[in-house]
Amino acid sequence: MKSIASAPAKIILFGEHFVVHGTKAILAAIDKRVTVTSTFTNDNTIKVNSQLGTLEIPISSSYEEAKSEFRPFIFLANKMINSNQNVSGLEITIDSDIPIGVGLGSSSACCIAAAASISELFKKLSSEKILNLAIEAEKTIFPDTSGADCTVCTYGGMIEYPSIEKISNTFDLNLLIANSMIPHNTKNSVEKVNKFKENDEDRFSQLCNLENRLIDEVIIAMKNNDTTTLGSKMSENQKYLEEIQVSNNTLRNMINSLNEISLGSKITGAGDGGCVIALVEDENMDKVPALLPKDKEYFSAKIDTKGVVWSTIEE
Ligand code: MEV
Repeated sequence: MKSIASAPAKIILFGEHFVVHGTKAILAAIDKRVTVTSTFTNDNTIKVNSQLGTLEIPISSSYEEAKSEFRPFIFLANKMINSNQNVSGLEITIDSDIPIGVGLGSSSACCIAAAASISELFKKLSSEKILNLAIEAEKTIFPDTSGADCTVCTYGGMIEYPSIEKISNTFDLNLLIANSMIPHNTKNSVEKVNKFKENDEDRFSQLCNLENRLIDEVIIAMKNNDTTTLGSKMSENQKYLEEIQVSNNTLRNMINSLNEISLGSKITGAGDGGCVIALVEDENMDKVPALLPKDKEYFSAKIDTKGVVWSTIEE
């Protein structure tokens, strides 16, 4: 039997970093996906095939013995195998069209798709159980995760985290994603913000309150289809991200350029590299290439409404 699951990438419209410290956040799943296929084998190994390479280790190995990028998969395999001693091997193949390490939730989407794919070989789990399993797996590489990325990858659509209720999206704007092509490490950026908080608890707490208030205003703007306010709130959120120092010159230059033709723009995800997001009207989309340096990639994202999907094939 083959078990196949796929999960979407994500963008954070509002609230990254602050969400790790308990604020709300607005996230959306987007139309880029990772697919994970799992099968039983008789090799007494766990084998993981991905764009990052192949790992094959004895079935009794712990996830700590694996290189960090493979740990979530070994963790999930161990967890399921330990509940079913008859298994003599597992092969997990990851196939992704989500760029890695640029803030689009590649790691969370992989954890969700892997949790759904591997668990389905053993027993049927609810989406909520798959989400909890995936968050545990992601913690093997990123212990401080807020769980927001995994949550939106599971349920799809646009959500006001921690709620999983979908926000209806009636605005007719392009969600332009521009990739700085600077890889980043979410764990390091989150640790940097932890240091900012340690150094100035009062200001950090004020910023968290400001972020929560901003998100309340965004929800009202979305209900009123008030795209001008929505865009200006993005730029306001960017100021908070600048203050906690997760921006840099490349991102600032991209944001400043995109502000010329968009209603607002900001970092999406951990920052320090990765992607920026801008709200762009249709008639301005053809002005984008002239605004971005030639080495930057960009695309207009559609919101994914499905979240994680999975099925099995008898062979
Ligand atoms: C990373 O995509 C988003 C952060 O807020 C971390 C997290 O929520 O776990 C930076």
